[in-house]
Amino acid sequence: MIVIKNEKEIAAMRRGGKILAEIMDAVGQKIAPGVSTLALDKLASELVFRSGGRAAFLGYGEKNNPYPAAICASINSEIVHGIPSEQKIIQSGDIVKIDMGIEIDGLITDMARTFSVGAVAPVAHKLAEATREALDAGIKKIKAGANISEYSAAVEDYAKAQGFSVIRDLVGHGVGRQLHEDPQIPNYSCKGNDVVLQAGMTLALEPMINEGTHYIKILSDGWTYATKDGKLSAHFEDTVLVKKDGCEILTR
Ligand code: MF3
Ligand code: CO
Repeated sequence: MIVIKNEKEIAAMRRGGKILAEIMDAVGQKIAPGVSTLALDKLASELVFRSGGRAAFLGYGEKNNPYPAAICASINSEIVHGIPSEQKIIQSGDIVKIDMGIEIDGLITDMARTFSVGAVAPVAHKLAEATREALDAGIKKIKAGANISEYSAAVEDYAKAQGFSVIRDLVGHGVGRQLHEDPQIPNYSCKGNDVVLQAGMTLALEPMINEGTHYIKILSDGWTYATKDGKLSAHFEDTVLVKKDGCEILTR
C-alpha cells in the first residue's frame, strides 16, 4: 500500500529533511584522512540528538542483528550499509558514502552522499559525479501522473552512457511513516509492477552505480554490501515529495 502524506506529515518531513541535510553537511566536513568512520557516526548521533530527532537506522532490521549505528559509512568497493568502526580509517583517495535517516515529529527522511577524500582517481571522480547526475536526471522525471519506470530509465540511461553499471538488487523506496514503504523504486528499466506517481507520495530515490559489473555481495557482518568484482561503487540519495508539476527535494 502506498501512503499519501497529509499536510502535517509533509511539514514534518520538510523540517526533517532540512535538518538531515545539515547533519550530512557537517559529517561531510569532518571526513578527512585519519578519521575513523566511528567518529563520523558519533558526530551524526550527537547532532541528531541535539535536533530533537531520532536516528532512524539505529536498531533497524532483524532482532538477532539490528543495525548498530546512526549512519552507514561505506568506503570504495563497499556500496551501502557499511557499519561505522574505530578500525575503519579514511584515507586520501577514498570515496566515502554516508547514508543517514532521521525521524522528526514521527516522520522519516533518508539521504546519502558520496564524498571524495583528497585527490581521488579520475574514474572515482567520474563515477561519483555520474551517480549524482543520474539521480538528478531521474528526479526530473518525478511528477504526478508519471510512471516510476520513467525515473528508472532516465537513471539507467545516464549511468550507462557514462560507461557505468546500475545495481539491480538494491532499490529505492517510499519513505515517511516508516523507513521503507511501498513502492520499490528500481534504478534500472524493468518490466512489470509499474506505478503511477501521485501528489503527496514521498520517495527515497537512491541510485547505486558501479565502476565495473552490477553484481553485489554481502559481507560476513550481515549488513555491508560490496561490489562482487572489488571495483568502486557510488551512491546518492534524496527524499522527494511528488507534486502536480514536478517534485520538491526535501533533503537539500
Ligand atoms: N538508506 C538505506 C536504505 O534505504 C537505509 C538502510 S537502513 C539500515 O536501505 F538500517 F539498514 F542501515
Ligand atoms: Co534509502
